[in-house]
Amino acid sequence: MTSSPDDRPAISNLAREERRFPPSPEFVAQANVTEEIYGRAEADPVAFWEEQAQRLIWAQPWTEALDWSDAPFARWFVGGTLNVAYNCLDRHVEAGLGDRVAFYFEGEPGDTQVITYRELTEAVCQAANALTEIGVKSGDRVAIYMPVIPETIIAMLACARLGAPHTVVFGGFSSEALRTRIIDCDAHVVITADGGYRKGSASALKPAVDEALTECPEVHTVLVVRRTGQEVEWTEGRDRWWHEIVPAQPTTHTPEAFDSEHPLYVMYTSGTTGKPKGILHTTGGYLTGCAFTQWAVFDLKPETDVYWTAADIGWVTGHSYIVYGPLANATTSVIYEGTPDTPHQGRWWEIVDKYKVSILYCAPTAIRMFMKWGEAIPAKFNLSSLRVLGSVGEPINPEAYIWYRKHIGHDRTPIVDTWWQTETGAHMISLLPGITSGKPGAAMRALPGISVDVVDDLGNSVPNGGGGYLVVTKPWPAMLRTIWGDPERYKETYWSRFPGAYFAGDGAKRDEEGDLWLLGRVDDVMNISGHRLSTTEIESALVSNPKVAEAAVVGASDPLTGQAVVAFVILRSEAGDGGEHCVRELREHVAREIGKIAQPRQIMIVSELPKTRSGKIMRRLLQDVAEHRPTGDVTTLADTSVMETIQAGLAKGMTED
Ligand code: WT7
Repeated sequence: MTSSPDDRPAISNLAREERRFPPSPEFVAQANVTEEIYGRAEADPVAFWEEQAQRLIWAQPWTEALDWSDAPFARWFVGGTLNVAYNCLDRHVEAGLGDRVAFYFEGEPGDTQVITYRELTEAVCQAANALTEIGVKSGDRVAIYMPVIPETIIAMLACARLGAPHTVVFGGFSSEALRTRIIDCDAHVVITADGGYRKGSASALKPAVDEALTECPEVHTVLVVRRTGQEVEWTEGRDRWWHEIVPAQPTTHTPEAFDSEHPLYVMYTSGTTGKPKGILHTTGGYLTGCAFTQWAVFDLKPETDVYWTAADIGWVTGHSYIVYGPLANATTSVIYEGTPDTPHQGRWWEIVDKYKVSILYCAPTAIRMFMKWGEAIPAKFNLSSLRVLGSVGEPINPEAYIWYRKHIGHDRTPIVDTWWQTETGAHMISLLPGITSGKPGAAMRALPGISVDVVDDLGNSVPNGGGGYLVVTKPWPAMLRTIWGDPERYKETYWSRFPGAYFAGDGAKRDEEGDLWLLGRVDDVMNISGHRLSTTEIESALVSNPKVAEAAVVGASDPLTGQAVVAFVILRSEAGDGGEHCVRELREHVAREIGKIAQPRQIMIVSELPKTRSGKIMRRLLQDVAEHRPTGDVTTLADTSVMETIQAGLAKGMTED
């Protein structure tokens, strides 16, 4: 642990804000859930989740709701069987909803598609048939590296239909990141596209796949969607065009029912070591968690709402709240391929206006960017269709919360600030919009069926007004089941810090009224624009460059992205004393190794790093430097003069990017 949550500057900032926003009487009157749900869930959480699992259609009912005998390895709805794709598609068509729109797709260049539940079901059947022809069978892993286009969702659902766990790798990740994920989960098939549209032009994806596969001999097929029409290299015998094999397939496919604990997908996320963790989600519990939370937290009315999660499908937010939750609930959703400022800074609001979006879910980083661009831009569009706004990825600062409510929600819409993680699969802490008054900056309370606590170093629950570590004290259906291929790391990472409880890695505070405030990570994990990056992973990337002798990375607070990557680097003597071109080279090196999102905002070349006597880098001191604060307590440093040396070197100005 490098710092305790009480060190976080966020606390004083958050404590200032005392405003409360109760839901309007009209909203309360029509809300999906009422206060009684909390008591009911608390009285018997497992029975509560059994009730929620009835949202799905099971081929075989379960015989036991929860098997926790081999804790922390959970099994939910034991003995039950179901097919996820059937639950997201066919059953809605069978219920007469075939003509309901599943997705309004808006491509960045302005091309659009309207896809009904019937059309989506048929497309997924065709893709499942094509994957079967390629040789994909239940249990096989399939890697997906795509832009935000309908085929990405079709590919995921086709995998789910076949019981073949997918691993979707965010298109912004590098070939190196893609390769390590393909190897770790041993995928033999990759689905990709020639490219996607970003910032007004075609951005290639296929070259990264080609590069990754130079060291993945097990991959026998690459299925390529033509999206941009750009030139691609072609490996005969391995590469196949999606449009040549998928549309020719029959539009029907009989779904097989899989065990409730059958693996659904692996999603890689950064931990505190250099190696990303493959978070495993399974079938019945995960879908139950997504379906319930999307319905309750967003007060979803599937008949009338138009719902938009403005995120990439390659993150867990996209999995749970673009694909699985919304489709399980027969939601009509919008998906948008591109960036918010293409071709103009009002693009999102134009989309809300055009499709009459009623529920919008996005990250505080996006909101702060819109704040910077100014309220005159959203004011040009009709946003009166909006009725619920959501936030995810990092704590939303009160300023952004109030701006979002005022300039996007016109002071009518409740805001749901949803705390959860790749590991939790679904929302864990959020207000329910027809019940609780929102406090700007607070995530408020655990959802029904979820038990959380804030504990001190010894694992004792802190009283109201206290701060500590956030833990989850009871298993929940959408929880991760393990780390792919590494059950020991699963136990060690999440269940060893506080015996019997799931340690989330976040600091939290419970205010005088018992409401929860999230205070950021307490481990060596950074949160950049709502995306998790590990300091160690970026440090490993830096030291893999021959110019670098040693590197330390910290997340420094940033007005736009929440945190930004700041790197302190000691160069090898052969590399000279740095200089601008060296800093540029190192930034590009990190982008190549991990992806652009991991690029340091700033690289400081230093001659020494602050270390404890046991050799551990004291990142907290470096964070002080990065945030232009006087450095804190240096007494545990092996050499107390190091910080002075660093400060002096920086003051000479030889090093900043
Ligand atoms: C970490 C999880 C959950 C999907 C997106 C990120 C932070 C997430 C909130 C929130 C405060 C939040 C936490 C968490 N986080 N949402 N509403 N308030 N912090 O998923 O990459 O798994 O990251 O994001 O620090 O541990 P992820």
